[in-house]
Amino acid sequence: MYTVYKKHEEYGDNMEYIKLKSRAKINLTLDVIAKREDGYHDLEMIMQTVGLYDSIFIKKTDKDEIVIKTNLHYLPTDERNITYKAAKLIKDEFGISKGVYIELTKRIPVAAGLAGGSGNGAAVIKGMNRLFDLDLSMKKMMELGEHLGSDVPYCLMEGTALAKGRGEILTQLNPCPHFYVLLAKPDISVSTASVYKNLDLKTVKEHPKTNAVLDAIANGNKTGIYTGLCNVLETVTIHQRPIVKEIKNYIAEQGSCGVLMSGSGPTVFALFEKRETAKEAAKKVKEKFNIKDVYVTEIYNPSGEKGRN
Ligand code: C5P
Repeated sequence: MYTVYKKHEEYGDNMEYIKLKSRAKINLTLDVIAKREDGYHDLEMIMQTVGLYDSIFIKKTDKDEIVIKTNLHYLPTDERNITYKAAKLIKDEFGISKGVYIELTKRIPVAAGLAGGSGNGAAVIKGMNRLFDLDLSMKKMMELGEHLGSDVPYCLMEGTALAKGRGEILTQLNPCPHFYVLLAKPDISVSTASVYKNLDLKTVKEHPKTNAVLDAIANGNKTGIYTGLCNVLETVTIHQRPIVKEIKNYIAEQGSCGVLMSGSGPTVFALFEKRETAKEAAKKVKEKFNIKDVYVTEIYNPSGEKGRN
């Protein structure tokens, strides 16, 4: 449960504020079922939250405005920022005349396939729900979140989940067993829209065996989980950006259980049983490919970790 603090002299006033963690996700499976009339694709994905997080601080203000501050100078802080969009959505929907001041500390790489932005939008919905005592159900927050992006409802839910439709039809699953997770993002950007646009479903040879992975998760069968890792978007991103494949192959040789691209990429994630092996692999991949965005984190499941927020 997030705590709303009543006063904080550090910020020079006594307005209420809240601090939240907005965590990254990986896709254990990602299947594209069909292209839809509305330009989106029907998907089937097994999603998993990991520990790497952005920090979000939201404070009420007396002025009717939304002010965003972030540690990344190249991120827009106006209506193009998803935290701004989320705050505006909640203000408009509930006729809130007070403003918010949001401080976003990014650690999750941007445009990386880790739903960093979607998580930020989800955190602002959650935070404003508490800060303004809106008493919204998870279902209502997810409906609102859908307007911000396909992954936002999942980011509100967190944990292990099956996502269908655009990504918004969600079933919470048994928590995925523990792994250490290495994340490695090459220094390139990938546009999700262009990856979907360039996907030719007829040429996709390998689809995930989603049901087999669901069974493995239900039974806590780790081998079944890591042998089932599969993402159909790899075909497109790897074709455009062969370095993704090179990183995958290299990490696979470093003692990981399984390696896959997350979302539309370009981040590659790898599952490890031992933290030391994951750390060693992280060091090597960083040096070999001269990339800075390399992290060792863990599978994160909120159900087993109540009160950590
Ligand atoms: O929903 P979101 O804004 O995150 O999606 C970004 C882009 O990814 C969409 O504009 C669309 O091109 C593509 N997409 C898709 N099918 C989905 C989700 C996203 O084609 N289910």
